Amino acid sequence: MEQPILNGLIQYNNEGSYPWHMPGHKRRYNTIFPDIVDNPFSIDVTEVAGLDELHDPEGIILKAQERAAQIYGSDKSYYLVNGATCGVLAAISSVCSAGDTIIIARNCHKSVYNAVRLLGLKTVYVMPEWNDDICMFGGLSHDTVSKAIKEHPHAKAVVIVSPTYEGVVSDVEKIAKTAHKHKIPLIVDEAHGAHFEFLSNVNETISSINYKNVPNPAIRLGADIVIESLHKTLPAMTQCAILHYKKGLVSQKRLDEFASLYQTTSPSYVFMASMEACIEKMDFERDGLFLVFKQLLSECRKKFSELEHIHLIGPDDFKGLSNISYDHSRLVFSVKDCGIEKDGNIVPLRGQMLSEILEKEYGQTMEMAGGNYVVAISTIADTKEAFEALLLAMSTIDKQLTEYEQEADIIVNKTAPEKRMEISEAKSKQDIRMPLYDAVGRVSSDFIYVYPPGIPIVAPGEVISAEAIRAMKRALDNGRSIKGIDNESTSGGYVHVVKEARNVWLPRRKKRI
Ligand SMILES: Cc1ncc(COP(=O)(O)O)c(C=O)c1O
Repeated sequence: MEQPILNGLIQYNNEGSYPWHMPGHKRRYNTIFPDIVDNPFSIDVTEVAGLDELHDPEGIILKAQERAAQIYGSDKSYYLVNGATCGVLAAISSVCSAGDTIIIARNCHKSVYNAVRLLGLKTVYVMPEWNDDICMFGGLSHDTVSKAIKEHPHAKAVVIVSPTYEGVVSDVEKIAKTAHKHKIPLIVDEAHGAHFEFLSNVNETISSINYKNVPNPAIRLGADIVIESLHKTLPAMTQCAILHYKKGLVSQKRLDEFASLYQTTSPSYVFMASMEACIEKMDFERDGLFLVFKQLLSECRKKFSELEHIHLIGPDDFKGLSNISYDHSRLVFSVKDCGIEKDGNIVPLRGQMLSEILEKEYGQTMEMAGGNYVVAISTIADTKEAFEALLLAMSTIDKQLTEYEQEADIIVNKTAPEKRMEISEAKSKQDIRMPLYDAVGRVSSDFIYVYPPGIPIVAPGEVISAEAIRAMKRALDNGRSIKGIDNESTSGGYVHVVKEARNVWLPRRKKRI
């Protein structure tokens, strides 16, 4: 009997690499929830009488959702069994109809772009601030959003991502106030911030450390809809997510409809029980669990910051930009100015290379490799021993590094690409396949992105610029896989572009076709 998936999972588990990635329970579920059922099949039932219905909850599911709303401070919270993805789709669908205009942070996840495509929306992109020193996005400035709203007062929503994959939190409160002045709802993709409610709201008086500027959850700062992946930063099963809603600008009836529309009609009770157990435990033991976690983070971050070459990104790296806080649980290690010896030569150490060394030589698996950095997700399920093992790995590698000024290795756009047509229009046109390196100036008919983080380098309807191609080439050279490129290899690959000749751009003085 062949069971490639199960065998793959068993092999992965046996290899014993430590997961600095989601899901947030780090496969220590039984330790975190000792009283939870051992056999998930025993509670894997369908919506039979007495067990309520996710799509029209009146009983136990309603009760659990009401508890979540109470804990998170929302007017209504929706359990999502299809990840934050379905929450993002539902949120945008609840406020926009075909042809509407929407203001979107350009560093949003592909689920936001998918909503735009499905609904046929017109996009106005707002760029987050760029930090050239560390080659990373900061937060989204309030002024940028305010300007976009003034120029597009009829926009149906503002969608931002906060925190970013790298832990940067924007000024949600100020952005919400400005959006509300124009009667525009604010949707916050807080997929990576489900723990903010608990991290920000513990009894600090019983601790020796006192964190300043711990991020507050967006739903308490005025956002209208907030979507969180419970499975990313809390101990809940993969796919478990939650959507929080505040009354005011968004119709609850429409949100009810779309939260239902994008979810399976056979919701998993295993997932729902996992969400309930997670939220209740985090709330009931928040002082204990999150104070220990903060203490651990504080000690470890201090030690990581003493490394000579590898730089632990922190709030100080974003000083002067308009983000207001930083998620200390996000461990982002920059190797931007680091070189390493390879075959007798010193070569630049890229994020992907560091990630591979950590995995192969030290059994530490990262969540993501950026151009010049790696990202580790830490959660309350990580033990002191786990942090110490990561510290040992990082300090051993650090000793092998030298200073090396390397070219910034960026896998996202610093500036918004030129948009020639809306996403849905580009998707509706005939496309042709052509070599990546010949596609400069053509209009993409696909999303082209590295996953994670899933931020399009180029979205359908956008011009494939020389800058974008350079970013893709660097990513390919560094062993990253790029979605939207066929037969990708270091010598390129193929992309799909809109066939229409009028979309071809040629340098000046040459004739336009
Ligand atoms: C910023 C952001 N939003 C939304 C999502 C989608 O979350 P999910 O995997 O829970 O569907 C992700 C996934 O990585 C993400 O990074």
